[in-house]
Order: sequence, then C-alpha cells, then structure tokens
Amino acid sequence: MQDLYGRVVTYLRVSVTDRCNLRCRYCMPTDGVRFKDQGDILTWDEMLRVVRAAASLGVRRIRVTGGEPTTRPGIVDFVRQVAATPGIEDVSMTTNGMTFAGLAEELRAAGLRRINISLDSLRPDRFRFLTHFGDFGAVWNGVESALAAGLHPVKLNCVVLRGENDDEIADFVALTESRPLHVRFIELMPLGTSHPWARQRLFSAEEIRARIGDRYELVPAELEGGGPAKYSRVPGFAGTVGVITAMTENFCHNCNRVRLTADGELQPCLGSLLAVDLKGPLRGGSSDEQLRRLVAKGIRAKPERHLMEEYLEETSGRRMWTIGG
Ligand code: 5AD
Ligand code: SF4
Repeated sequence: MQDLYGRVVTYLRVSVTDRCNLRCRYCMPTDGVRFKDQGDILTWDEMLRVVRAAASLGVRRIRVTGGEPTTRPGIVDFVRQVAATPGIEDVSMTTNGMTFAGLAEELRAAGLRRINISLDSLRPDRFRFLTHFGDFGAVWNGVESALAAGLHPVKLNCVVLRGENDDEIADFVALTESRPLHVRFIELMPLGTSHPWARQRLFSAEEIRARIGDRYELVPAELEGGGPAKYSRVPGFAGTVGVITAMTENFCHNCNRVRLTADGELQPCLGSLLAVDLKGPLRGGSSDEQLRRLVAKGIRAKPERHLMEEYLEETSGRRMWTIGG
C-alpha cells in the first residue's frame, strides 16, 4: 500500500518486548526504567493478527525487534508463525546477540532468514562500558553461530559515538575482509537516553567515510534488502560496509516501513510521535477488516520526514527500547 507521499510500505518492524538484558548508554537508563506490565504487552496471537492485517495491505517483510527479542519466551514459535503467514516473504531479527548463539539454528529452522546484531565495540572492556552488561565473547559467539547457521546477510550494527568508539571504524571494516559480514555504521539519533548529549556525540556520515578513507578505498556495492543504508565495499573483501545517515543525509523519501510497539501502537515514523492504538481495538473485539483499516490508517499517517533534528534541542520522549529501531 502507498502512503500519501507515494512511498510503498512493504516492511513492518515488530517490537516483541520492551525488556532488554543490556543497557546501551544511548538507549536505556540503568535504573528507573518502568517496563510495561505483562498484561499491556500484546500476546503472540495479537501480534500475529497485526502481521496478517499488514500482509493483506502489501507488507512482505517483517523484522522482529525489542528491547531484546530473544528475552521473550516463545520467540521461535512466533518467528515460525510469521514466516508461515501468507504474503510474508522475509523474516529478520535485530538482536544484541548476547543469547543468540544458542538460538541461531532453531530460528533459522523456524524461517528466520537474516539477522542484524548490534555491536558498538570490538574491545571487550569498552563493549562492557558502552552496554553496562555486555559480554563481547558471547556476542561474538552469536555472530559466528549466525554465519554457521546460514543466515544471510549477517549485519553488524555499530552506532558511532564521538570520543567513544570512532577510533574503531576501520577495525570494523577489517571484519568484512574474509567473511560475509556487513557492517553498518549508524549515526546517533536523539532517542532514548542519548538526548542530552546526542549533538556532541554525533559522528556524521561524512566523518565516518573520512575515517574509513584513512585506511581503505571503498567502491559502491549492493546488498539485497539493504534498506536505508548506503553500501560500499573494499575491493576484494567478502562483506560490505554501510552508513545509515539518519541525521545528516535524510532518506525519508525512500522510507518503506511502519512499526508495531510491544504494547500495540502502530507507529508510522521513528522520529515523530504519531501513533495509532491497535491494542484497544484488538482487545475490544474488532474484526479483521476493522484492524486492517486501522493499519491502513497508520500507513497513511506517515509523515513526509522525521523531526529528529529538532529533538536535538528538546527531548522527543521516544524510548527506543519500545520501538526497536
Ligand atoms: N541512535 C542510533 N541508533 C540507535 N540504536 C538504538 N538507539 C539508538 C540511537 N539513539 C540502534 C541499536 C540497534 C538498532 C536497532 O538501533 O544499537 O542496533
Ligand atoms: Fe538493549 Fe538494544 Fe537498547 Fe542496547 S540498544 S539497551 S541492546 S534495546
């Protein structure tokens, strides 16, 4: 289905839980997080109803996110049911990788095709500092298991933070040399806990490219289902390098997605506060057709572009861990 600006929405991101076993500094505070009550989180069946409604409107790809999606019991069955939904052609997941190693094979067998693993540092001490509880070895096992299970592509998401990990950019690129790993550098967005310092810590796409250029020469590349990242590769390397330029090179005109939060809001844009409540209707006896109309309303409500530059001045109140990126 098209939105008001002629963009075709084929992609739904489903946040299955607002809980997480890490506390990335730009995302969640270490204390004082008020998680949703279990009863306010959509059941798996409710989420599947939304997936079916979206599929009937032309959504073909689902990404399962969180919080950390692997912390919710039943995730493998959910992936299996999403993959079996008529119209859905592709199921992926974004995970912090901490417990992924033990799940990769099962998820792959259930129909998961691709995976994004968040990894902001390759130095164990620094990784722990940036995530509070992160264990680099565990995440790296997750990466290895994803490759071994045949998930493709395996992408690594690295949010670049000025003065924290910008000195590792070329090291991340080096990971793409011998294996089909696809590293994506993400510009810091003023969401979650990053708001007070997002401007100071934002390391721009241009600076990221310059850092890579210090060590490598890149040529343009394509990555299947690449989304908003612009991809390149070092000639001869097995993987690719992408930059997600949400802040300094707006790509909203190509946006193809909407998001479902764990508590049942359909959010047409990551960087706006618009939302259509689906939980009320789901629990109030709405028919499939009524639900379908509400999902269509959410798609039509997609704004032309996000307002995140303004959030650099004033907080959006958006909590990334309930939206899943
Ligand atoms: N800015 C940029 N990326 C973020 N992520 C979480 N919060 C932010 C933020 N404020 C990333 C996570 C994950 C992806 C879904 O979004 O690291 O990889
Ligand atoms: Fe958890 Fe992801 Fe937020 Fe990190 S960015 S705290 S892994 S939800």
